[in-house]
Amino acid sequence: MNQQGELIQVNSDQDVVRVRQLVRTVAVAVKLSLVDQTKLVTAASELARNTLVYGGGGTVEVTTVDNGRRPGIRIVFADQGPGIVDLDLAFTDGYTTGSGLGLGLSGARRLVDEFDIVTAPGAGTSITVTKWCR
Ligand SMILES: Nc1ncnc2c1ncn2[C@@H]1O[C@H](COP(=O)(O)OP(=O)(O)OP(=O)(O)O)[C@@H](O)[C@H]1O
Ligand SMILES: [Mg+2]
Repeated sequence: MNQQGELIQVNSDQDVVRVRQLVRTVAVAVKLSLVDQTKLVTAASELARNTLVYGGGGTVEVTTVDNGRRPGIRIVFADQGPGIVDLDLAFTDGYTTGSGLGLGLSGARRLVDEFDIVTAPGAGTSITVTKWCR
């Protein structure tokens, strides 16, 4: 069940900072533990940076959710960029087509409870992550 969501356009470093701040605020509001707050903010920061750098900018939507047993946070990162041609390669630690460490995608996936990616060459990338309260 979805509740209120907030959308941030990501076109600059400052927008990535806004994403971090919003995710922290919502994580506190749904009472994620301090450790889980930090994990989610870290994951969101990596994915928003990918949206900016590789996706050419896009949107981040932060929504509170409730599965009937516990609350959580869902975040969708979407861009209309080039897409990811080889997903296995992109999730390999150390693989980068830029100047990064190649740890963002793999790290982000480990830091959340659910991670879904939809991407196709030329058709952009959409990544949905969820973190549940425990
Ligand atoms: N939104 C995206 N659109 C297109 N390609 C992407 C996107 N996100 C990631 N990629 C591709 O996947 C690769 C791996 O991403 P990942 O975040 O793991 O590493 P990185 O961004 O290169 O380095 P790091 O995140 O460690 O600074 C990127 O180098 C890029 O080729
Ligand atoms: Mg990255």
